[in-house]
Amino acid sequence: MQSTLACLCLALCISSSFAAPLSAFKSIREEALGSPPFCRGTPCPDYEVVKKTSNYELRKFEPTTWATVQAPGSYAKASTEGYAELYRYVDGANEEGQKLEGTKPLTLIFKAEDDYSKCEQNHTVAYYLVGKDEESAPKPTDANVKIFSTGEKSAYVKSFSGFATESSILSAAKDLSEELSKDGIETSTTFFFALYDGPQILINRHNEVWLAEA
Ligand SMILES: *[C@@H]1O[C@H](CO)[C@@H](O)[C@H](O)[C@H]1NC(C)=O
Repeated sequence: MQSTLACLCLALCISSSFAAPLSAFKSIREEALGSPPFCRGTPCPDYEVVKKTSNYELRKFEPTTWATVQAPGSYAKASTEGYAELYRYVDGANEEGQKLEGTKPLTLIFKAEDDYSKCEQNHTVAYYLVGKDEESAPKPTDANVKIFSTGEKSAYVKSFSGFATESSILSAAKDLSEELSKDGIETSTTFFFALYDGPQILINRHNEVWLAEA
């Protein structure tokens, strides 16, 4: 019944006119699938918002699978080189020569000092693999690329805009840890940064830091 209605709606949207209703349909569909607007229609990990304040939200993420590499150097170097290495895997550098679906976000693990003034110059960079698990993800031909699955995970998330830099990321994580601390929640200084937009996106850029309870 639901699929009949969906087909009917799709048929009506397409037949009644063109661009505007189609894009309206797309946003309704994304909303129905729970894909947040900052994913811009690209697959990104599913989550449920458990709690929301004006400063942050607590998300419960569904189990996910990631292709990862260890990338030495600053955030700028690790994100550029790590992304290039992972993109080769996604684009077919795997035993099956399979091209995988593009996703968001690219995530990086940050190991910060206690005061968030600095972080280790060595990051794990991870590319989300939609609809795959450790079994079904094609085997990387590059031995540096490793596949990892995680179970359901909870994280406190703070969003910020602009072109992220190592210092803006550390500062967002520090702010979030202080806000959480005021609410009686202590977090680990090892945290995730989620990069949603490529350099071609100039406005309304979306970034997040994800902190786990210590
Ligand atoms: C980066 O971290 C990985 C894993 O913790 C380690 O094996 C590697 O030696 C480190 N590389 C550098 C340059 O510190």
